[in-house]
Amino acid sequence: MTLKDQINKDKLPKHIAIIMDGNGRWAKQKGLVRVIGHENGTKSVRETVESCAELGIEHLTLYAFSTENWNRPKLEVQTLMKLLVKSLKKEIKTLQDNGIRLSAIGCLQDLPKKAFDELEYVKEMTRNNTHMTLTLALSYGSREEIVNVIKELSFKVKNNIISSESIDESIINKHLYTQNLPDVDLLIRTSGEQRISNFLLWQIAYAELYFTDVLWPDFNKENLYEALIDYQNRERRFGKTSEQLT
Ligand code: FPP
Repeated sequence: MTLKDQINKDKLPKHIAIIMDGNGRWAKQKGLVRVIGHENGTKSVRETVESCAELGIEHLTLYAFSTENWNRPKLEVQTLMKLLVKSLKKEIKTLQDNGIRLSAIGCLQDLPKKAFDELEYVKEMTRNNTHMTLTLALSYGSREEIVNVIKELSFKVKNNIISSESIDESIINKHLYTQNLPDVDLLIRTSGEQRISNFLLWQIAYAELYFTDVLWPDFNKENLYEALIDYQNRERRFGKTSEQLT
């Protein structure tokens, strides 16, 4: 039985989020410059997006660039932005063919104009696609996202748009960048690091965490299937006991 055959189609996670890590180390191991690692990382992005769409995953969120990544050498930041624009231009057809709607979360106004405009264009072109949502986290930081929510809610309370008593989890959800997405079910991080790195802190409250040593440019559909099988073998109790679940 192939790995793919072992996946239970009725128990798929609705929302997968991935911290794509290890591009730099992949390149270093091969004696190449870091940006070649990022270039090869885009191949894994493509394979992962296509495989998720094919399996019927409804939401896939990829951590493509964190607020902290702006501190990397200027040339690397420029290359990552160029790769983003190039990939968006190249993959628009794949998105359309697979019914994928592109979305983005983060401080998007901080992106270079070219990247921002291309992103807006592809978002607009794919906005009626319903098979899967692909969300790119760009210039994203979870604490910054939460700070924004607090600012917006304080403003609304101060101006009597809402009362402080009415603030609950659902109101907070509606003010996050991820307002249209369900909670994350499965969070994958590649490259052996076991950290969350300021990614979707609120949204992963009940997510299953899956860490693999595979470096992102080597991550392929078989690795994705392994993560899904592992996820499906776990018991998600959401605070209840095993007995209550059965
Ligand atoms: C982490 O590897 C990866 C990133 C910071 C960026 C991920 C970007 C891509 C895969 C390419 C462009 C994205 C899209 C959506 C087209 P790292 O550089 O931190 O690796 P290291 O920890 O080994 O140094």
